[in-house]
Amino acid sequence: MRRANVKTKIFDISNYTEEVIRKADVDFDPEAVDMIEDATDKLKQAANVIAKGGLVVFPTETVYGLGANAFDPAAVGKIYKAKGRPADNPTIVHIARPSDIYLTGRDLTASTLKLASVFWPGPLTMVVHKRPEVPSITTAGLETVGVRLPDHPAAIELISMSGVPIAAPSANLSGGPSPTKGRHAIADMDGRVEIILVGADSRIGIESTVVDMTASSPVVLRPGFLSAADLAEELGKDVKTHSSLVDENEASNADTDEPPKSPGMKYRHYAPEAEMYIIEGKRPDVENEIARLRSLNEKEGRKVGVILFDEKDYVDAAHDFYAKLRELDDAGSDLILAGALDRGDGLGFAVMNRMMRSAGHHVIRV
Ligand code: TXA
Ligand code: MG
Repeated sequence: MRRANVKTKIFDISNYTEEVIRKADVDFDPEAVDMIEDATDKLKQAANVIAKGGLVVFPTETVYGLGANAFDPAAVGKIYKAKGRPADNPTIVHIARPSDIYLTGRDLTASTLKLASVFWPGPLTMVVHKRPEVPSITTAGLETVGVRLPDHPAAIELISMSGVPIAAPSANLSGGPSPTKGRHAIADMDGRVEIILVGADSRIGIESTVVDMTASSPVVLRPGFLSAADLAEELGKDVKTHSSLVDENEASNADTDEPPKSPGMKYRHYAPEAEMYIIEGKRPDVENEIARLRSLNEKEGRKVGVILFDEKDYVDAAHDFYAKLRELDDAGSDLILAGALDRGDGLGFAVMNRMMRSAGHHVIRV
């Protein structure tokens, strides 16, 4: 990995919330006005960095993003370097208002506009045909572009002040867990970017749902907080899930016929330093197996970490999963044992997709 060599400014903008903005703008609460002024000044500095071709880490409702001017090929090139990201993995372009989808996308379908009107701002990335103005490095050479309007006031204000759409992958070093807390983003990006904007912990905690809108039926390429069923319900038509995801979630040794269409899905991903196994089965059996493996490994001198969410507590699992991986790594774990979640629910399916990758598809069935 390239040596870190940029002097990074770390700005706390955690006061820049809907609530404080309202207190300042509607109630003219003096304390809130001060807070918003201070945060706005920091956001302006960050927007200047983006406009001049630099890198800024910023919070969103899903995970922290590592942003650059999406129209500036040199700036986007810096993203790949800072993350150590393979050049064939496209970035998501973030916009500040729904109609800005026209800046990067063309030939938009009625379904795309419908989903934008229902789910934006929110954790939904739509892959559409790209406009020629979007440089090929931003989309890793694809003729399509992923676009998203994040549901986070600081992210929206940053994009808006920058005056350009912001290309932003998750702000982790390539292959590692996405950052859901400011300190995670700092741990990975200090010395690699000009500014890190630190907000509250990410509200959702896993990345956006990526859906390909260029086929006749939309296809979910990466599951997320919004499920294929959520999208289908609004569209009144079928939304498919890419076959590689279904196979992967069903089979432990994921021998899929079809390569994943979302290029980012094929890499080792979201992985802790520690070796990791998922234990799957009825809950009491899972708990017994985890206890057995834990004592076995501890006797051999390994440090064992356990991740055991309630199997239907998808929202907390999504919120805490990446943070848990980092916490166990920081504690020096050699081995992580994680209880599988119920995949029946859309969010359970999405979190299990991340968990399977983190564990390199190591599953023990009991
Ligand atoms: O929630 C999120 O989406 C976060 C925040 C920062 O917005 N961003 C994020 O970006 O997760 P990243 O780069 O870590 O993941 C982008 C995913 C990858 O799986 C990539 O392959 C896929 O989106 N993607 C982007 N553009 C695409 C395209 N044109 N066609 C297919 N997949 C695309
Ligand atoms: Mg990522």
